[in-house]
Amino acid sequence: MTLQRELDPTAAELRECLTRLPRTLPPRWLYDDRGSELFDRITRLAEYYPTEAEREILAGHSAMIAEVSGATTVVELGSGTSDKTRTLLDAFVVHGLIDRFVPLDVSEATLLYAADVLNQRYPDLVVEPVVCDFTRHLSRLPQGGTRLVAFLGGTIGNFYQEERRAFLGALADVLDPGDWVLLGLDLIKPIDRIMAAYHDRDGVTDAFIRNALVSINRDLDADFDVGNFEYVPLWDDREHRVDMRLRACEPEVAHIGALDLDVALGAGEELRVEISTKFDRDAVAAELTDAGFADTEFLTDAAGDFALALARRR
Ligand code: SAH
Ligand code: TRP
Repeated sequence: MTLQRELDPTAAELRECLTRLPRTLPPRWLYDDRGSELFDRITRLAEYYPTEAEREILAGHSAMIAEVSGATTVVELGSGTSDKTRTLLDAFVVHGLIDRFVPLDVSEATLLYAADVLNQRYPDLVVEPVVCDFTRHLSRLPQGGTRLVAFLGGTIGNFYQEERRAFLGALADVLDPGDWVLLGLDLIKPIDRIMAAYHDRDGVTDAFIRNALVSINRDLDADFDVGNFEYVPLWDDREHRVDMRLRACEPEVAHIGALDLDVALGAGEELRVEISTKFDRDAVAAELTDAGFADTEFLTDAAGDFALALARRR
């Protein structure tokens, strides 16, 4: 197995995010080793319904996805542990056309662990993990054959609308007519269930969001007082999204050594760390069409909580 690695320096991006208002933190600071572990715990929380709902859809429809797409290469963006993806890959292997699986993630440790598990489970499949950033390195997608690009877990909901549009356009650009996308989408539903999923009783989500500051402190020689921040998840009804913020309780000036930057935060000032958009099917179908995809089909769980959108590159 060869591991490909391509990571840009991301410090410059952080400077930009912290110096313009409102201040934000790029989500990739969430996924160091500890963050990836905390995320894995989130997926197993009773309040966090998306993972099981998506697993149910994959269990019911993977054979059809393998059949309809006829893909020979499956690529997974933001693959993490590829845990649910095994259900999809099982069906592709039974169907018999797949010869390659390419999981792509920023978290090297998680990717290596996943590749190990997959190599043991599928001895005849070429597993080619790629450490890279899916917002910048889509040109690194493997060439040849019929490709299906899976982007599961509702990760597309973590993009702002403009970023989502740019991402779908860039993805369509690197795909050929006849390739496929499979997008996991959390659907709009009553707000209390959504908010419970992002504000669990055990504080795992709080620790996950707060961990972005811990990674920045460690990797960029910074001194954010992590305990001075409160985790604040809000529902944005206009944009249909959860907005996850960290609010400074007392004023503080954090120094970021690697950027030679002081960030002065007033009491109550917030850092926007992550959003999680909830989708309406018709709107997503229109976005996919605009980006260059066609024939979008939605597959859902019995409760209608989550959807997989399968679409073909025109
Ligand atoms: N697909 C998995 C994990 C979703 S969590 C699931 O459905 O459960 C989001 C994943 O995307 C994490 O594994 C994280 O490390 C990865 N990730 C986040 N930002 C990324 C980026 N910019 N480029 C590549 N991977 C990224
Ligand atoms: N994409 C998933 C979601 O939006 C997982 C996720 C990403 C997440 N960032 C998160 C879950 C922050 C909780 C908190 O639900």
